[in-house]
Amino acid sequence: MGSAMSSRTGVPGPAGSGHGGVGANAAGGRDEGGDAAANLGVLVVRPAPVDLSRLAVMAARLARSLLPGDLVLLEGPLGAGKTALVRMVAEALGVTDGVRSPSFTIANTYQGRVTINHLDLYRLDGEADEDVFALEEYLTPDAVTFVEWPETARHRLIAAEWVIRMDHDTPDTRLVAIEARDEGVAARWGTA
Ligand SMILES: Nc1ncnc2c1ncn2[C@@H]1O[C@H](COP(=O)(O)OP(=O)(O)OP(=O)(O)O)[C@@H](O)[C@H]1O
Ligand SMILES: [Mg+2]
Repeated sequence: MGSAMSSRTGVPGPAGSGHGGVGANAAGGRDEGGDAAANLGVLVVRPAPVDLSRLAVMAARLARSLLPGDLVLLEGPLGAGKTALVRMVAEALGVTDGVRSPSFTIANTYQGRVTINHLDLYRLDGEADEDVFALEEYLTPDAVTFVEWPETARHRLIAAEWVIRMDHDTPDTRLVAIEARDEGVAARWGTA
């Protein structure tokens, strides 16, 4: 059982997790996307409306796709659901503390089956702040790091394994796109 799991050396899945209804169409690999992005990475989920109720399913699949050391950038406007998605991924990784927006603290760290850093750079104000904020301290090989509002420090975040773009859609849906840095990272999503 769990042959897919045995090939993973990274973040262990939930105890006893079968895929059940979660990611029910996962077997098809990059079935939700597959178009190569124009200039970056591999689009594993092309921009499409996702029901709020389905976001947790997507988050759980992302959680299974992550490895320690991964950097995940979260783009999209205020209230798009970036923090909500991090909360769902963290829960899938066994975090029991409530995940709260790090808008004011800039960074929060949680301990699940892997260390999770959750950064929000919205309040970093240009280069002066950027220089004093020790961003690299969070980008450690043992942790998964999520960064909301990465634009301010984009040039220090070019190694991101994942870029997730979220946007408002209807009250019950969000537009979500997920891009992996390369085919190797994309393959994790395909088997998650
Ligand atoms: N999956 C969801 N289910 C229910 N409500 C949601 C969901 N996602 C987002 N929301 C609603 O949208 C609000 C804003 O979401 P969230 O704080 O995650 O946005 P954000 O993209 O992190 O915004 P910011 O840029 O301000 O950090 C939440 O308080 C919640 O009311
Ligand atoms: Mg947020």
